[in-house]
Amino acid sequence: MAASVQGRCARRLTAKLRSCLQCKQRAISHGRILWATHDVEFDKAKQRLNSLKEDPGNVTKLQMYALFKQATVGKCNVPKPGMMDFVGKAKWDAWNGLGDLSQDDAQLQYIKIVEELVAKESPASETSSSSPSGKFSELIINNSNGIYAITLNRPKKKNAINYEMYEQIQQALKEAEEDKSVIVASMTGAGNFYCSGNDLGNFANVTPDKIPEMARKGGEILKRYIASYIDFPKPLVGLINGPAVGVSVTVLGLYDAVYAVDSATFHTPFTALGQSAEGCSSYIFPKLMGAAKANEMLMFNRKLTAAQAYERGLVSEVFTEQSFSREVQTRLQEMGKLPPQSLWKSKKLVRDAARDTLHAVNARECEVLVERWQSEECMNAIMKFFQKS
Ligand code: COA
Repeated sequence: MAASVQGRCARRLTAKLRSCLQCKQRAISHGRILWATHDVEFDKAKQRLNSLKEDPGNVTKLQMYALFKQATVGKCNVPKPGMMDFVGKAKWDAWNGLGDLSQDDAQLQYIKIVEELVAKESPASETSSSSPSGKFSELIINNSNGIYAITLNRPKKKNAINYEMYEQIQQALKEAEEDKSVIVASMTGAGNFYCSGNDLGNFANVTPDKIPEMARKGGEILKRYIASYIDFPKPLVGLINGPAVGVSVTVLGLYDAVYAVDSATFHTPFTALGQSAEGCSSYIFPKLMGAAKANEMLMFNRKLTAAQAYERGLVSEVFTEQSFSREVQTRLQEMGKLPPQSLWKSKKLVRDAARDTLHAVNARECEVLVERWQSEECMNAIMKFFQKS
């Protein structure tokens, strides 16, 4: 063991002497110290990577994985995973792509990337990603003047809904329900996107044998999530500040008013992803816009502009970029001054007329999705998305 470590150190030193011009002098005279220093820096970098607050993104994570393997194992020495193991394959491709890069250069590149990521985490970005109440890591909550305003806060991922967010939105709705000072709740997105729907990463980090379990768990989470909208007893207002995709669109049928900026779009690309409708849209959309128009969205992936969503009854009112914020705030303030009991009882009347049906539709939609998430059509579509990323 000691001999092999020594041999490795010697090989690394030889490689370093060939390649690291900057360190050459020190390497010749203080070879051992130099390597000890790099190893210490490498260990520190590993720890610092784990303490990052922001997800560095899939591309960087793959790069880090590949550099780590190259630095610790050397050249890629494992067989290429099968096609269905798309996460394994992406990792293998990244590692194998480093070719003959020396272990020391891999260490140095790894350390450099971690330093850059740490430097990027400025105090400003920490503030913008934290919730004022400190309870929700993925949301910003502003609770004042009878309005409980929820902002989806993962702008770097276009506010895609990951598992934490599914849970936190439900907790936020519960908090809004239980807080007697809250008359109305609203939902919007941070940055220039409203929401890119379900986080496709929810499906990505699983091995093929875990797919049925992932699909079952995903179905349960989604069913609870949609049920929390069906049963939310106070008015819920959507403030669609940019493009909306997938479940963030379908669930709008369960909102009580939806205001959109004129540049917003509404896209439900379910069949393109080998998936199927959720959020009770299979029941509500045909009622809202007629079967032919609903099918364009739910079966044929048609993306609507804000004006088209308004014509189809999915959106209550559309505003220009300049007036959006002011107009929606005015409307929310007016709602916040209405007699609450009358408002909530009116909502209950409207919802009760279809509540049982909505729960049944939700259960059925989730059942179909659990099957879809295990299908080859869906796996291939998600693999394509991450390969593109
Ligand atoms: N799930 C996971 N990650 C997502 C995501 C989603 N639904 N939507 C966006 N992201 C991530 C991207 O992977 C990218 O991450 P990276 O920076 O680590 O590479 C980042 O968010 C920015 O997205 P990008 O694709 O670069 O922005 P864009 O403006 O070119 O496109 C979208 C935005 C939303 C049109 C595009 O990302 C997309 O099609 N996303 C998938 C939407 C979807 O199919 N949702 C599920 C419907 S059922």
